[in-house]
Amino acid sequence: MRADLNIVDGRIYLDGSLVDCGLSIEGGRIRRIGKEASLPPSDERMSANGLIVLPGLIDVHVHMRDMGLSYKEDYGSGTASAVCGGFTTVLDMPNTMPPTDSPERLVEKIEVARGKILSNVGFHGMMTSDLDALEGMAELGIFSLKIFMDRCDWSEETFERVLVACRDRSLPVTFHAEAGYFMGKGPPQEGGRGIEEFLRAHDPRLEVSAVEKVIDLIRRTGARGHICHISLPESVERLRASRLGGAITCEATPHHLLLSRDRYGDLGNLAITLPPLRSPEEARGLMNHFLKCEIDVVASDHAPHSRDEKLRESVWEVPPGIPGLETTFPLLFTLVANGDLPLPKMMEALSARPAKLFGIKGRGEIKEGFMADLIIVDPRAEYVLDSSAFKSKAKYSPFDGWRVRGRVVKTIVNGEIVMDGGKIVGRPGVGALLRPSR
Ligand code: DOR
Ligand code: ZN
Repeated sequence: MRADLNIVDGRIYLDGSLVDCGLSIEGGRIRRIGKEASLPPSDERMSANGLIVLPGLIDVHVHMRDMGLSYKEDYGSGTASAVCGGFTTVLDMPNTMPPTDSPERLVEKIEVARGKILSNVGFHGMMTSDLDALEGMAELGIFSLKIFMDRCDWSEETFERVLVACRDRSLPVTFHAEAGYFMGKGPPQEGGRGIEEFLRAHDPRLEVSAVEKVIDLIRRTGARGHICHISLPESVERLRASRLGGAITCEATPHHLLLSRDRYGDLGNLAITLPPLRSPEEARGLMNHFLKCEIDVVASDHAPHSRDEKLRESVWEVPPGIPGLETTFPLLFTLVANGDLPLPKMMEALSARPAKLFGIKGRGEIKEGFMADLIIVDPRAEYVLDSSAFKSKAKYSPFDGWRVRGRVVKTIVNGEIVMDGGKIVGRPGVGALLRPSR
């Protein structure tokens, strides 16, 4: 065998530890892992110069927008943001314009993405009670059906019917778990327009009661559930108490783990997101659950908006969401570098586990036969986060000015170098359009 590329002199993350060795890539896959002398000859040779080689990160919750919302983000800018942040695979949310709620719209979206993407991309489908539409989207390979409980007015019977259909297709159901404060009434027309009102409208009890409802639905239907951006220790505790084990998994975002609502004073509406930032005690409690491995996945919930939109004065006019693809890895790696988070725990949450939970086969680990989705990381780099340098169109971040450690210096997708030294060098379209394997 002759390889396309040999990467040598790396500290490669294999089965939970860093091993001094190299690897060979051929046809987009990792073919051999070992000391340089044991690798086949290759057309190209790259030295990792003693830096760390990790599996490419997988983000199961991003909003790539495009189409009617391409002024916020599109597949080109969004996947550029992903690969600069170390993500080689992203699963894209369906609340777009138009929403991805039928096979026709999914096909349309796939055609928009094809040819633009620098990372691998898979799609979630938007909640629909039309079982033919659901069937059609499942057939085309959505990774989950996303239910926005804050905007869903289904009866118990409809919930049950849809979840049973998902169960029968082995299709996971992802939940935005906030009971619907605005349901059917829209944002309040009268009263205050400040952060206090916003936080009151998104009371923690709305999340806890939605989590209770998910537990009940999953218990009754036997579907597989995944709770997006869980923000309260109490929610995690309810999940654990349910004893449903792997039938309901959950994810947390870096902003819910690392920020709290007392930062709204200086960050202002830029930090408006849903669920909102919680109290400092709740954020600490959430972090403790993460450190105890009681949260399965870290996802960015990359939710880009334009600066103008985020600078509006009334909280009811500011779209919620924070871009996170370019901050998630350095924020977490800083915890690793400071000795607060073991590297295997970080990699489990950002790569191996998301792949397993959503059926992203042959990715998420460095193994012979797996796809060559890799990042090279300089663990000693120290720098300050600066959203003005984001590849995302959304150039704002509540983490601006944070000093972090660990820089992604190269990103490889399907065996091709797509980002080198912060520059995009990949050819648009190099990312694969993914389907789950179940
Ligand atoms: O903060 C959020 N932004 N929460 C959501 O549920 C939607 C998302 C978005 O699409 O911007
Ligand atoms: Zn989201």
